[in-house]
Amino acid sequence: MKSYYEALAQVTSLMALSLIGKVAVITGSSRGIGFAIAKEFAEINGATVIVCSRKQEQAARAVAQIKGKAFAAELDVTDNSRIQEFIQQILSQHKQIDILVNNAGYPFDKNIWYKKFHEVTDDELDRIIEVDLKGSVRLSRAVIPCMLQNTGNNANQNEGRGGVIINISSTPAITGHIEGAPYTIAKAANIALTKCIAREYGSSNIRAYSLALGNIATLATYGSMTDKDRSQAAQEPSMKRWGKPQEVAKVAACIASDNFSFATGNTIVIDGGTVLL
Ligand SMILES: NC(=O)c1ccc[n+]([C@@H]2O[C@H](COP(=O)([O-])OP(=O)(O)OC[C@H]3O[C@@H](n4cnc5c(N)ncnc54)[C@H](OP(=O)(O)O)[C@@H]3O)[C@@H](O)[C@H]2O)c1
Repeated sequence: MKSYYEALAQVTSLMALSLIGKVAVITGSSRGIGFAIAKEFAEINGATVIVCSRKQEQAARAVAQIKGKAFAAELDVTDNSRIQEFIQQILSQHKQIDILVNNAGYPFDKNIWYKKFHEVTDDELDRIIEVDLKGSVRLSRAVIPCMLQNTGNNANQNEGRGGVIINISSTPAITGHIEGAPYTIAKAANIALTKCIAREYGSSNIRAYSLALGNIATLATYGSMTDKDRSQAAQEPSMKRWGKPQEVAKVAACIASDNFSFATGNTIVIDGGTVLL
């Protein structure tokens, strides 16, 4: 049985990270990192989460694995005409949007990844930019008006709830990389997007962050590699291992909470100590 102080410590630590009362939209959350973020937000931190996939059934399957307030939605971030309708649907059901996580990423395509930069076609570049960059721009543009409304009628907008936008980036966006130039370009522009939002909407209490990820074990990465490549990748960070999606999700929950109330525009590197700024 827990002592009084252990129970109190547990309750206060939960309260400190609490996303209770917040509504979070997480793009590409049918699996991998997006799914881990949705689960962490809803199960541990009490948020209402909108789990998004290009396929309603996949979103519903993910929702079924989350204990908490999770709702499935169909969303393709490249479909600009559908985004307003998607946002209206959420607002009519949940009244507000407090957190947006731009996580959707173009699937790994070895034909584009291993091409020399000077051989990449416009079409190949566009396919990645459409999801990893323009998808994030479109969703951010659509949720900012809702977040501005969250500030309500406060004379001092900084007293309103505003909102939080988290863009999932990648360490090559900081260091450059010898392969995958279109991906690196899109993820670097995402960091710029974060900074623009932080600067332009800080006075309305809208905070923005980039998470620059290293090797995080998901089906898209670890699951698609040979044993040799996996071991090689594990040797890159100081911690000599792959990261887990849950380790990204815990950082995301922390920055989305009010504990990060006076930090914005930051790039937070989650890579086990490979890129040291
Ligand atoms: N894993 C890593 O090591 C690593 C490292 C650095 C950065 N990242 C970034 O982290 C994010 C998640 O990576 P992951 O490893 O979890 O990848 P993943 O398992 O392939 O998940 C990608 C998600 O993106 C969604 N998606 C793809 N195209 C979409 C579109 N057009 N519209 C909406 N959703 C779309 C997919 O959803 P549906 O197929 O269900 O539609 C899926 O849920 C990506 O942005 C990735 O670039 C990952």
